Amino acid sequence: MDSNNSAIKLHYRERGQGEPLVLLHGFPLDSSMWEDQLDGLADRFRVIAPDLRGCGQSEATERTSMEEMADDVAALLARLGIQQAIVAGFSMGGYVLFALLRRHPELVRGIILSNTKAEPDTEEGKAGRVNMAEAIREQGASAAETAMTPKLLSPDAPDELRQRLQRTMLAQKPEGLAACVLAMADRPDSSGQLAGIRVPTLVIGSDGDTIIPFSLSEATAAAIPGAALSRIDGAGHASNVEQPEQWNAAVRSWAERIL
Ligand code: MLT
Repeated sequence: MDSNNSAIKLHYRERGQGEPLVLLHGFPLDSSMWEDQLDGLADRFRVIAPDLRGCGQSEATERTSMEEMADDVAALLARLGIQQAIVAGFSMGGYVLFALLRRHPELVRGIILSNTKAEPDTEEGKAGRVNMAEAIREQGASAAETAMTPKLLSPDAPDELRQRLQRTMLAQKPEGLAACVLAMADRPDSSGQLAGIRVPTLVIGSDGDTIIPFSLSEATAAAIPGAALSRIDGAGHASNVEQPEQWNAAVRSWAERIL
């Protein structure tokens, strides 16, 4: 479905009824990474997964920011008549979620921080993003796909799953990917927010995540008052894709406790 409520056309997937659950995808992916959550959680939640600005079937702009992406999500919720939702952010989606908490805290009933972190990029990391944006502009989406394929799943993941993610990455618009990479480089430090988070929080990490080591997810959970922590076993970075049953079960049991 498409929403034109913000300044751009935003595409989103929606399934189920009940408590609204908004799922924000990572880079260089789109809402299709949540297919197993749209299927597996629709009996309990109204699951909404937007393609963030520049990604999937949503419009791309030359530049963007985590703030602008958060505003797009807020506009989508307004358009859908949703006053409050549980919001889950995976990796880059988590960076957007921190911006949503800063700008639209009234919309957020609870948060799930999956394989993400509050800290900004190092100077070296920022320089790497600038190079990545250039490579994407020159070579297209394959530059992002080549860099990310080895990191998204554990070495034991089925080829079929790897190929599914590769197809998603290769289908992205180069200009949208480049804008996302530079927006991640420019994102502010959100770590000062953690101690002030007052909504129920679930932090999810995985044993095989080489981008966000599980120790970092533990530290994030320890910094947020009352946060629950869940470890997904047998997964690389994209834990919800590689171990959807574990991921969905963690969300379900946490939701039972907080709702
Ligand atoms: C993601 O999965 O969204 C990215 O790896 C996040 C990042 O590069 O910081």
